[in-house]
Amino acid sequence: MTIELSALPTDTRIDDATADLLFREARTVRTFAEGEVTDEQLEAAYDLAKWGPTAVNFTPLRLLVVRTPEARRRLADHMSEGNVERVLTAPVSLVLAADTRFHQHIPTLAPHMTAMVGMLEGNDEQRRAFATNNSWLQAGYLILALRAVGLAAGPMAIADAAGVDEDLLAGTGWTSLLVVNVAQAEGSGTTFPRAARLGWDQATTTV
Ligand SMILES: Cc1cc2nc3c(=O)[nH]c(=O)nc-3n(C[C@H](O)[C@H](O)[C@H](O)COP(=O)(O)O)c2cc1C
Repeated sequence: MTIELSALPTDTRIDDATADLLFREARTVRTFAEGEVTDEQLEAAYDLAKWGPTAVNFTPLRLLVVRTPEARRRLADHMSEGNVERVLTAPVSLVLAADTRFHQHIPTLAPHMTAMVGMLEGNDEQRRAFATNNSWLQAGYLILALRAVGLAAGPMAIADAAGVDEDLLAGTGWTSLLVVNVAQAEGSGTTFPRAARLGWDQATTTV
């Protein structure tokens, strides 16, 4: 069942065409349309995604933009076999990573919480949990933001994340979470049939 947003009693909702673009019609891209994905397009997507909420405004997500054949090859070496071809052929791939030293930006991002800098410096486990959890949250915002600027996103797990960290993220303090292939949005970008989603009644309990 599709709920028409135009039936909702508010002026601030998005229209149904935008809901289709961001959610209902958008697919995980697996076959890539011709055409370059520019840094300007990627920056425009980041520029939207950065506004999504995170704990204390930590915003720990960082991006490695993988473009050159040599960098693609290195990234592909850390992917599972079924994901290699897409990393080698996507117009561009992003490695989404969590900055484990995000707390150094707290004076800028949350000046009222500067006491947390020292507290987090001394608590590696808590810092890593904040970094990872909030970067995953931002990964979701980024996938939708890529769609919002007219691109298609293809998220893929990283088989050997420690290998990516050592090879491509050495010296950054970033830990890799996910690869997102990015292409021009054209057609569905996949030959897979759309799988079902759980409905409201299956996914919710009200107390
Ligand atoms: C965190 C995450 C990890 C994923 N890992 C893989 C993967 O390793 N290989 C793959 O082919 N697809 C992967 N996917 C793609 C999902 O299978 C796909 O997004 C989901 O089935 C929905 O497909 P749809 O957008 O076409 O409806 C991943 C997606 C996410 C969000």
